[in-house]
Amino acid sequence: MGIQIAPSILNADWADLGGEVDRIAEAADWVHVDVMDNHFVPNLTIGVAVVERLVERSRLPLDCHLMIEDPDRWAPAYAEVGARSVTFHAEAVRAPVKLARSLRAAGARAGLALRPATPIEPYADLLPELDMLLLMTVEPGFGGQGFLDMVLPKIRRARSLVAASGGEVWLQVDGGIAAETIERAARAGADMFVAGSAVYGADDPGQAVRELRAQAEKAAVTG
Ligand code: DX5
Ligand code: ZN
Repeated sequence: MGIQIAPSILNADWADLGGEVDRIAEAADWVHVDVMDNHFVPNLTIGVAVVERLVERSRLPLDCHLMIEDPDRWAPAYAEVGARSVTFHAEAVRAPVKLARSLRAAGARAGLALRPATPIEPYADLLPELDMLLLMTVEPGFGGQGFLDMVLPKIRRARSLVAASGGEVWLQVDGGIAAETIERAARAGADMFVAGSAVYGADDPGQAVRELRAQAEKAAVTG
């Protein structure tokens, strides 16, 4: 699949989400939508009604990152309204295989997210049920935090597990991805990059996406 860039709208203008998505539509692969419930993380964003409207409005597919309690109950609705990728957190889910299967049955890619301190190894056997692993490179909750280098060894281990499983699991990193950090994450094996403030803090978000992609492509592990 190659390198993919998914700008996060967390730090975009919430009063003009349609316009903000248009600014990256020519350059990016996905729109990363951070759903937060003020329980799993200490922040509150949007829910399924806004996602449904964004699906209709956006030319790019939506990549929904659910930072919520009880994803077993709430996640399938995001797939049902048309989010093309739905990611739930390992620390919150009760029945990940069942949930991943119901997301896929509803037509979405199924993603599993891990907070920085959550190990990847207990989830190795789940890879055939998944389309994506999201390794958080900050504690989830807010944009604009510094990239945690401590996650780099886990990215490398995840890349090996994905290769050994023979599947087509995308390896996404999220948090603190910017010009200064994206090459480290790409060299460790990530192939899908979420960037919030590095894109929406730039004067030209589309150009920021193109520059991040070029950096990641140059640094990416090949073969
Ligand atoms: C953090 C979110 C991220 C965030 C990234 O909890 O999951 O998607 O928006 O923002 P930056 O790129 O600014 O770290
Ligand atoms: Zn996110």
